[in-house]
Amino acid sequence: MIKFAFVGTGSRGTFAYLKPICNEYSDCAKICGVYDIDRKRAEAAVEMTGKDIPIYDDFDEMLKDIKPDAVIVTSIDCTHDEYIVRALDFGCDVISEKPLTTTPEKFMRIYNAEKRNGKKVTTTFNCRYMNHFERIKELLMSGVLGDICSVHYEWLLDRDHGASYFRRWHRERKNSGSLLIHKSTHHFDLLNWFLDDEPEIVNAFGTRRVYGDASRKKNERCFGCPAKDTCEYYYDITANESDKKLYFDCEDSKGYIRDKCVFSEEIDIEDTVSVSIKYKKGTVVSYSLTAHSPYEGAKIVFNGTKARAEFKMLHGGGMYGGSVANELEIFYPSGEVQKITIPKKDGSHGGSDSKMLNDIIRGVEYDPLGQAADTRAGGMSAGIGMAANISMKEGRSVKISEIIDI
Ligand SMILES: NC(=O)c1ccc[n+]([C@@H]2O[C@H](COP(=O)([O-])OP(=O)(O)OC[C@H]3O[C@@H](n4cnc5c(N)ncnc54)[C@H](O)[C@@H]3O)[C@@H](O)[C@H]2O)c1
Repeated sequence: MIKFAFVGTGSRGTFAYLKPICNEYSDCAKICGVYDIDRKRAEAAVEMTGKDIPIYDDFDEMLKDIKPDAVIVTSIDCTHDEYIVRALDFGCDVISEKPLTTTPEKFMRIYNAEKRNGKKVTTTFNCRYMNHFERIKELLMSGVLGDICSVHYEWLLDRDHGASYFRRWHRERKNSGSLLIHKSTHHFDLLNWFLDDEPEIVNAFGTRRVYGDASRKKNERCFGCPAKDTCEYYYDITANESDKKLYFDCEDSKGYIRDKCVFSEEIDIEDTVSVSIKYKKGTVVSYSLTAHSPYEGAKIVFNGTKARAEFKMLHGGGMYGGSVANELEIFYPSGEVQKITIPKKDGSHGGSDSKMLNDIIRGVEYDPLGQAADTRAGGMSAGIGMAANISMKEGRSVKISEIIDI
């Protein structure tokens, strides 16, 4: 029986880990204690599990009391390092949500703590477990495309999903490291994994054009806003029962407001970014993220020495209203074109969350695609975002080796 301690009882922690571990893995795993800076939210989360899990007011006390084998970290991004290092120094393994961390200094603390304690950190990159990305990984591993010379990679968040990052803690760089770390860490990890390579040099530009125009602000938050009936970004925090319980009903505890105005002066992150990356084996990549697109999805193109592959994924709200299409086309110099439709999988994040959790909890003997991600993978993906942040600020190309010394 694996004994877990748990930190961060927001929606990700509660629905991707706490509830499933309590309900589907009781034969081999047990959450022995939870901690969140907001005890009221921890209580609401534990209530949702239907189990009697001790709630602690101090993280270190929790570790001393339950002596866990591993700690699951799902608190906000900028706090991951704090709990990861304390857990490693206590002698525990760690399972941390992405992004592993938000700054080079924090990454090096984690890396050094892991080394000195001989314990293991797993970074949970659920995208690696999505069936369409597994299919792309298999395609690349097969060698059909030859060596990959370049990748064009565009990721689109619609005005519902994208706006959600401008209402909460993510909108401040000090909390999330910007979308280039919070969000793009998924995309950069996929790239590193697809290419089986590591980034060498990064150059980036970014801007914010849609969110954060304070002259449009009518209220601090959506709840009670006079523009409720006219604002395209209005979000009703009371409409969803679990959001209401975890967040709205806990506001009087620590003052975490989840429906802040997307036109606030507090926002200091970009909503539009463009990044160039050169990889160690020579692949060059152009990546962009748009957080205000009419539809949600991604387009990824691989130009290989033997063939070209184009992947298109559409999903979510906006003009595509929930429909999902994942299409892969392979173009050969002979003129032959191979079209593959990759079916949608049900479940949270296309079934990837439960698949990844199963691998983490039950362990895997055989991992042919290399889906388990470690500290290095966490650092190399967040590292591209960190380098991009420096590049935007200082107007220069940034070598990964300048900021991550491993
Ligand atoms: N892999 C994915 O698909 C995915 C999806 C969503 C979120 N995430 C990640 O999961 C984590 C949680 O995201 P979320 O959406 O649940 O956020 P959230 O805001 O809903 O929850 C975060 C929790 O952290 C707590 N917290 C804040 N500061 C803390 C501190 N100093 N110490 C302890 N707890 C603290 C908050 O009280 C809250 O309960 C983030 O790292 C995020 O990047 C991953």
